[in-house]
Amino acid sequence: MSTKVLIIGACGQIGTELTTALRNTYGVANVVASDIRKSDNEVFAHGAFELLDARDKEAIKVCVEKHEITDVYLMAALLSATAEKNPEFAWDLNMNSLLHVLNLAKERVIQKVFWPSSIAVFGKNSPKVNTPQHTIMEPSTVYGISKLAGERWCEYYHKNYGVDVRSIRYPGIISWKANPGGGTTDYAVEIFHEAIKHGQYTCFLKEDTALPMMFMDDAVRATIDIMNAHSETIKVRSSYNIAATSFTPKELSEAIQQLLPEFVVRYEPDFRQQIADTWPESIDDSAASSDWNWSAQFDMKAIVLEMITNLQKVLV
Ligand code: SER
Repeated sequence: MSTKVLIIGACGQIGTELTTALRNTYGVANVVASDIRKSDNEVFAHGAFELLDARDKEAIKVCVEKHEITDVYLMAALLSATAEKNPEFAWDLNMNSLLHVLNLAKERVIQKVFWPSSIAVFGKNSPKVNTPQHTIMEPSTVYGISKLAGERWCEYYHKNYGVDVRSIRYPGIISWKANPGGGTTDYAVEIFHEAIKHGQYTCFLKEDTALPMMFMDDAVRATIDIMNAHSETIKVRSSYNIAATSFTPKELSEAIQQLLPEFVVRYEPDFRQQIADTWPESIDDSAASSDWNWSAQFDMKAIVLEMITNLQKVLV
């Protein structure tokens, strides 16, 4: 059977670029983008698009059957900071959307599922440096709790129902084509916009808060690679650690100042600091490397160059 893809939550930061990458991989005719509302990003000006609420199992099923979908990429979620403001809605969206999609795979209506987890599954008792694939996991945010529960469901559906679900734990994702929304790592995107537009930025995390980060191109490549890997090579059916780089707001600011010497940063930590304090500083991704050949291409310096060069074209 040929691959036909549905992206749920396609208008978000990752979904937007994943839509383009999946169209390049499978052809525009074989990719359906969907979201609760359509973004005006030009990516969605062409290609199939459906309005879809990820909490509505029947609507997902109708869409999947209408387009004869084989693979679902479930990107819809409330991220860490927003979820803390609306815990019950976050749980409803993040958890029920996953169960709906896993059940469609269990019923063999679809063949394969991609679902993203996050570094937010770790907590203050997890080792902070080179956080291992398997370790203590005591997330303290609603987002982290929903992602850890989701990982357990993925493994359960694989083991008990033979569902082919694949997942990676994204770090903070840095990109310039679509904005992130509601994450604790969002500072690492906002800082570039403000540096270029205003020459200054007030950071909501402390200057020495190191977090794992990744450029969008690496994140999208990881997503497509794990979905294309042979099933037997995917030994972890909860979710894989993946890593690219780690840095603090101060280190990122200094790298930006190399290219924009006038740039000034102030620090006014808010509630997101408490979230960041429970997350890893860096991640051990050796399981992903050995099982499906994962390796990142963009380090901090390369990310800074990409972000500034591209945003200078689109913002100025
Ligand atoms: N970028 C996400 C967040 O900050 C982490 O998965 O919520």
